[in-house]
Amino acid sequence: MAAATADAPTRVAIVTGGASGIGLAISTRLAADGRPVAVLDRDAGAAEAAVAAITDAGGTAIACAVDVTDRAAIDAAVADVKDRLGTPGILVNNAGRDQFGAFLDIDLDTWRSVLDINLTGTFHCCQAVIPEMLAERWGRIVNISSSSAQGGQPYMAAYVSSKAAMIGLTKSLALEFGRKGITVNTIPPGFIDTPMLRKSEEKGLLGGTVEEHEARTPVRRVGRPEDIANACAFLVGEEASYVTGQVIGVNGGRNT
Ligand SMILES: NC(=O)c1ccc[n+]([C@@H]2O[C@H](COP(=O)([O-])OP(=O)(O)OC[C@H]3O[C@@H](n4cnc5c(N)ncnc54)[C@H](O)[C@@H]3O)[C@@H](O)[C@H]2O)c1
Repeated sequence: MAAATADAPTRVAIVTGGASGIGLAISTRLAADGRPVAVLDRDAGAAEAAVAAITDAGGTAIACAVDVTDRAAIDAAVADVKDRLGTPGILVNNAGRDQFGAFLDIDLDTWRSVLDINLTGTFHCCQAVIPEMLAERWGRIVNISSSSAQGGQPYMAAYVSSKAAMIGLTKSLALEFGRKGITVNTIPPGFIDTPMLRKSEEKGLLGGTVEEHEARTPVRRVGRPEDIANACAFLVGEEASYVTGQVIGVNGGRNT
């Protein structure tokens, strides 16, 4: 396992939705880089399984069974992380839900749920963790948005709205906290092979199979969760201190 030698001291990371897909790859990668990781996910069993795999591989991780829409639970989890791992210096806001359907059919409950998880969940976690970062005068926030928000996407209006707002939030926080040593960036993934993507494929919501999409992707493959983890690993490091407020697309050239 490589040590996070560029950073002194080693920074503690919180990864929301860290138990599956992209979040799991990020949790695994940051732990492999020598960072203690809190896997924060509403799926307690999956979070425990992720932690077991990370610790088996020699990393340090704890599971926090939390829904990102529950502010009290997030505040308690941040206090728990501080007690058990140390002050969190890295926050990856990755927990999210998708949404497909005609705009005129979106009911208010669905609209609110998508905004609550994807956008307000990010708001809660940032508000809970930034005070810890301010005390250290060091922080790295990476928001996992979506390539669909870069160009728009039909039949995904609630999802795209929530992800576009995450991009705006990223830019605003970068400007507000840049002088305090905190960077804030967003990675909008495009077409990454995760359980979320495969479930959408099964339901016929992708406008073709994953394999058909691969043929239309400039690099001719579907993205891997590790592709996002690689970019994230850079953004949370010491070497990325001059990168903030940026939209770092990882999408095989599907969006330019
Ligand atoms: N897979 C893609 O192609 C793709 C593309 C663009 C954006 N994204 C975004 O990447 C992120 C991860 O997606 P994925 O494909 O890995 O999905 P996934 O379904 O495999 O994993 C999502 C994880 O988030 C957790 N989660 C969901 N709602 C939560 C909540 N309210 N509180 C806490 N945890 C919650 C789930 O339990 C799960 O472990 C999402 O924000 C998604 O919108 C994915």
